[in-house]
Amino acid sequence: MEDNKKITIQDILSMKNKRKITMLTAYDYPLASLVDRAGIDMILVGDSVANVVLGLDSTTKVGMTEMIHHAKAVTRAVKHALVIGDMPYESYQINPQESVKNAKRFMEEAKCDAVKLEWFDRCLEVTAQIINAGIPVMGHIGLTPQTADKLGGFKVQGKDAEQARRLIDEAQALEKLGCFSLVLECVPDKIAEMITKNLKIPTIGIGAGINCDGQVLVTYDLLGLFERFTPKFVKKYINLAPLISEAIEDYKKEVIEGKFPTKNHSFTIKEEELKKLG
Ligand code: KIV
Repeated sequence: MEDNKKITIQDILSMKNKRKITMLTAYDYPLASLVDRAGIDMILVGDSVANVVLGLDSTTKVGMTEMIHHAKAVTRAVKHALVIGDMPYESYQINPQESVKNAKRFMEEAKCDAVKLEWFDRCLEVTAQIINAGIPVMGHIGLTPQTADKLGGFKVQGKDAEQARRLIDEAQALEKLGCFSLVLECVPDKIAEMITKNLKIPTIGIGAGINCDGQVLVTYDLLGLFERFTPKFVKKYINLAPLISEAIEDYKKEVIEGKFPTKNHSFTIKEEELKKLG
């Protein structure tokens, strides 16, 4: 595949068993540009924007208005990656009858390439409707943050045989409906491996071990920009928060001490023009 060509759903499907798939989140133009420039295959405009950018305590508190706003900024930046809009809780769980309309907004208004939906009790019915409307869907099973309270909190899912069987069945049902890939969140590595081997579509793991077909992380986590908590599955590839704090403190000091701006950062006016002012 050419490096600068736009990635398609077909490209993602054909990567299974050939090479690992990379996916990260982005919510704004500058970060989406950097993620895209690095050649990441898929960019998720995740509802995790609620926690990491908007300072909310639950992903269920973000709605379509915010998600479309962020998705538009991301698609303006992206030339290469497949962009996936994460459907917020209200858009398909509170309002299943509005789900196709909301999925279409991600595609038509925000120019996304696909949408993602978390598993919930009417997931199959809603997913089928969106796929029938011609919209590519990525499923999401295991720990589904939008309904974490029903799963006993933010816990690893599929730790006993009954729960694991349920996950295997959910994965197969979503593949049968026509999902093009599946996020497996916080699932024991052996169960993620079983699901991955059972499916023809790629699995994308987050806290689901090395044997998934690809991996996703929240970009703010891997950059060390989200300080409230760090889940066990996160690897911080850099710790930007202290570096940013240091730069801001340097700016503050230089302004207070009159060292910034210098002549180099200032504009001039000719002496003769100044004289005219008296
Ligand atoms: O919203 C999000 O960032 C996600 C990922 C954790 C997969 O759903």
